[in-house]
Amino acid sequence: MSITAEIRVGDKTLPLPVIVGSEQEVGVDIQALRDKTGAVTFDPGYGNTGACESAVTFLDGELGILRYRGYPIEQLAGKVSFLEVAWLLLKGELPNAAELATFTAAEKANRGLPAHVTAIINAFPKDAHPMAVLSAAVLSLSSTYHAETAATHAGLNFNELRLMAQLPTIAAAIYRHGAGLAPVAPDAKLDYTANFLNMMFAGTARSGHDADIANALDLLLILHADHEQNCSTSTVRLVGSAQADLYASIAAGITALWGPLHGGANQAVIEMLDGIVAHGGDVGWAVAQAKDKDSSFRLMGFGHRVYKNFDPRATLIKVQADVVLGKLGKNDPQLAIAKGLEEAALKDEYFVARKLYPNVDFYSGIIYRALGFPYGMFTVLFALGRLPGWMAHWNEHNAGKAKIGRPRQIYTGKNARDVVELSKR
Ligand code: SDX
Repeated sequence: MSITAEIRVGDKTLPLPVIVGSEQEVGVDIQALRDKTGAVTFDPGYGNTGACESAVTFLDGELGILRYRGYPIEQLAGKVSFLEVAWLLLKGELPNAAELATFTAAEKANRGLPAHVTAIINAFPKDAHPMAVLSAAVLSLSSTYHAETAATHAGLNFNELRLMAQLPTIAAAIYRHGAGLAPVAPDAKLDYTANFLNMMFAGTARSGHDADIANALDLLLILHADHEQNCSTSTVRLVGSAQADLYASIAAGITALWGPLHGGANQAVIEMLDGIVAHGGDVGWAVAQAKDKDSSFRLMGFGHRVYKNFDPRATLIKVQADVVLGKLGKNDPQLAIAKGLEEAALKDEYFVARKLYPNVDFYSGIIYRALGFPYGMFTVLFALGRLPGWMAHWNEHNAGKAKIGRPRQIYTGKNARDVVELSKR
């Protein structure tokens, strides 16, 4: 059945082209709307607006479906490595053994940081939020590599490879600087996630995480790797559409992710759970606060712009929380509180009516805290996972030589008026 659309604005009726995606999503093409009718659409928050066509990730918020390049995350998480998923997102296909070997070797060989990046990290106050330092450190890379933009290395763009290899080193250096610890050099004998854990915790009471823990963190990175046109990915695409370089675009994505309504929610969830512990573990108090319109309190880690049913990532992370805490022999009261909060909210009409369910951030912080990460590093971990998705979208937007992103508005300010000289104001 062919789908048609038209819009009537005043006395004008405009037939509109329709595009249908590979999952039968329907997009009404309004590119001619303003020229033909003088009107623009109005959609604050872009909840009904498709900004682009994309082949990277498909998600269905009603059915709780999430697929990277067609592969369901349930078939990827815990079954392939994060580097394989990064290759999949960037190249469109899972790597074969030779491609993975070359990529892995190149990632290991490029983990070291230029001296100026280390200097920038160390120039920040020790109590600076790690996300601020992460964005600045990534932006500073553009001063070193932009000339090599076209160079390919191990099958990837040189800058993509460097970012994949160096972001964990930057993240660990940020943590060590803040903790007053000497940095730990990357170890090419260790795979991606084990190396990151070693750079983070070597020489501390939190060292010694084994392969099971490294695999659990690898799984979490996979679950954070992409999520179509979310706030930070849309930021990366928008900045890239101005032909800013990859590092500037990723640095912008990092700052967008930092917001507590977005990736910063994983830190906000744990701080919320701390608050509930301070209230004697009273989840009823938290639910009441979240429903109180006079309270600024929100159930952090709950709700989602797209998922109006369960977030498939939250389901998988909740299982991992039990696995990791069990492995570490930790009995974290916050996990029991989180489960109690989920149970109470899912029975409460306020949350049911608004289709508010746990999202990717609800349980992840409990795992990160159990592994020894300080709260400020939680969203840095989200950024580590999201990096390949951001870069895949940046490439897709720029490869298509996209137009610069420039939304319209509806002006509601003062009409034209004349300036009155100071003596008469
Ligand atoms: C991520 O987009 C992505 O894909 C993001 C992400 C990714 O992988 O990139 O999935 C990662 O950012 C997950 C979301 C993390 N954020 C949080 O957990 C913060 C808490 N959640 C909310 O602030 C909120 O649910 C959002 C921001 C996630 C979504 O907000 P929307 O879609 O703009 O919904 P809304 O703010 O308009 O809320 C609709 C109603 C309102 O009530 P009413 O005005 O109808 O009475 O639901 C209420 C809201 O007050 N509501 C909540 C709530 N979330 C929404 N009430 C209490 N607690 C909450 N968490």
